[in-house]
Parts: sequence; C-alpha cells; structure tokens
Amino acid sequence: MVTPVPLLEDLPPVAGVRVLLRADFNVPVRDGEIVDDLRIRAALPTIRWLLDQGAEVVACTHLGRPKGKVDPAYSVEPVRVRLAELAPGVELLENLRYDPGEEGNDPAFVARLVDGFGAYVNDAFGASHRAHASIVGPPQFLPSAAGRLLAREVDVLLGLRTDPKRPFVAVLGGSKVSDKLTVIEALLDVADQLLIGGGMCFTFLAAQGHGVGASLCERDMVDTCGSLLERHGDRLVLPSDITALGPGGKLMDPAAGGEVRQVGTTVPDGWTGVDIGPGTAADFGDRITEARTVFWNGPMGVFEDPRFESGTRAVAHAVADTRAFTVVGGGDSAAALAQFGLDDGVDHVSTGGGASLELLEQGDLPGLAALRGDWKDDHG
Ligand code: 3PG
Ligand code: MG
Repeated sequence: MVTPVPLLEDLPPVAGVRVLLRADFNVPVRDGEIVDDLRIRAALPTIRWLLDQGAEVVACTHLGRPKGKVDPAYSVEPVRVRLAELAPGVELLENLRYDPGEEGNDPAFVARLVDGFGAYVNDAFGASHRAHASIVGPPQFLPSAAGRLLAREVDVLLGLRTDPKRPFVAVLGGSKVSDKLTVIEALLDVADQLLIGGGMCFTFLAAQGHGVGASLCERDMVDTCGSLLERHGDRLVLPSDITALGPGGKLMDPAAGGEVRQVGTTVPDGWTGVDIGPGTAADFGDRITEARTVFWNGPMGVFEDPRFESGTRAVAHAVADTRAFTVVGGGDSAAALAQFGLDDGVDHVSTGGGASLELLEQGDLPGLAALRGDWKDDHG
C-alpha cells in the first residue's frame, strides 16, 4: 500500500454534514445521451460510504471544455439524470467549467464552492492532474479525503513505480512520441520491457533508418528516439512487421479502395502504416503472457477501422488472458477493451488518461498534494 493521502476513514464524523464530492463525471455524451457511464459508476462506492455514514452529498464535476462560459452543449443534465438513477438523493452542481474561476483556480471561486460545506472528498482521479479550483482549493479550507476510486488508482499506479512483480512489461501505443516522451522515460526506469506500437512506432523505425512511407512520423523527434534506442535498445521492443494501406486508400472507408498489405519494418513510399503486423502481434502477445505485471496504454493501430483492429485486438486478448497483474490506462485502450468485450479480464482499468500517465511519470499529482496539505497556489 502506497497511499500517501488521507482516506474517507480519516475524516471527522460526517453524519449530518454537507460533503462536497469532486467527481470526474466527464463522460462521453452524444445527442444528449451518455455513451459510457463507467466514470459515474466508478464513484458509487464513495457515494455509498458517505450516504451510509449519514452525510448529505453534493457532487460536482466538469464536463468537456466549455472554456469558462455557460454553454448548454456542456450541461451536466444527462449526468444528473444517470446519477439520480444510480444514487438517488445526491445533488449535482452545474458544470464547474462554466465559470472561468475553475480552470483559473480563482480564490473567489474556491470560496463560493466550499461555502456551506463541512467536508470535501476528491474522487476525481481523471482530473487530479489539473491544478483547478475544485481540485486544489477545497482541501485548504475543509477537512478532506480521497474517495475510494482515487485511493485505488493511486495504489495501483504508484505500485507500478515502486514494486512491480517482474518481469514488468509495458505496452505503449497512440500516435505521438512527443505526447508520451516523459512517460516513455519513466517506464524505461521501471519496466523490464517497453513494447512500442501505434502511430508512434514509425518515429522509432525512422530513427533506425527504415523508410516509413506516408505513415505518421514526427521528424523533429527522430533524434530523440534514436538516443532512447541507443541508451535502452535492449529493453525497447519495436514492431518487426507492419500492416500498411496502399495509395488511394482511406481510413474508415473501405469503399475508397486501396490495397492492404503486410510489410516488414520498411513501409514503401506512398503507403501508410496503420497497425502492427501479425508477427509483431504474436511477439507482443508472448511477452505479455510471460510477464507478471503489464501496463498498457494506447492502441496498436487504427482499431476503429475493422480492417486495422487486429494488433490492438491481439494485445487486448493477451492482456485479458495473461496471469500477470494487468493495468490499462484510460481513454482509447479502455475503449478498445470495451469494444472487444474484454474489460472484465483486466485487474485495473484506470478512469484517467492524462492523469494516469502523469502519476506514473511524476509519482504525484496536484490533487494528491492538495489532499496531503502540500499544495501551494502560485497566486495570492
Ligand atoms: C479527462 O477526460 O481527461 C479528464 O476528465 C480531464 O479532462 P480535461 O483533459 O479536459 O482536463
Ligand atoms: Mg484529457
């Protein structure tokens, strides 16, 4: 256990107390309907505990990025409806980001937010890397604690940094090396192997001198990838084959034509690498099977297009089937698991994308520092 924050049990008695619960109910909403309510369900253990103790629970969240303005497109109404079904009697404040004071961490906004409350609980893991008013403000004024979800996320993710069972295999995908450079470096400090797939593998392949055709490639990161390969080549594992889409082909549009072919590590001119190839998928699968700890973040290819889902599907199956302790970092990889019906096979699916990576990189988050009483605002 490496939970460096006060827990619900550390709060003074909350019977009859109005408790402000900061949750991350930033769920995908399409045409007024919630597409995936995982983040709402994930807060229920905390809500139940508070209600069982006799607290009056008022929840708050951001939803999307309305940029400090009231915009009905980002109303929390769909969340309010779902929350009322799952946890009757819990109030929900309007979108925190309707007020510029939330993202600006404005002391006046914090003062209004905490007014009338006797305690604060942060269960918004997915937003705890943001030094926003509702995350870092209330602990400066109210008895505060981490909710069950936040505490579990911290235990699992910090556990990967401190004492993973070995071999520890990390699998990273997604499109940009630049977005993930710091997490790559952090993982190379602790993992025995780092398997690289997704769009970002082409910048590494380019650094090895391979042609990448029309694939995603960050030219200004090629030298950085080259030096990572030089320093950690024994632990960085790159694809040995690639699935590529030929000239004229379009993603998500098989009718547009374009040939699909397996190539080696060199993508021909005019062709685009869109997934890891079958050989790589098998190799990554074997490494995941032999691991005792696995962390996976980011798809291996354009899995939204059924023609290019095989690599991501193979990794998802290996992650679900291995006997290793498995952790999947939020966002796209969680969506992929759900798409393949495999979310039950994983030990921990993080509710945070950016937050899980930042916690792995830094070992701390603004929201955690605030709960420990270690947060200093850099204004006022
Ligand atoms: C997320 O979905 O990543 C979190 O809710 C944080 O949202 P943000 O990236 O808009 O700050
Ligand atoms: Mg985000």
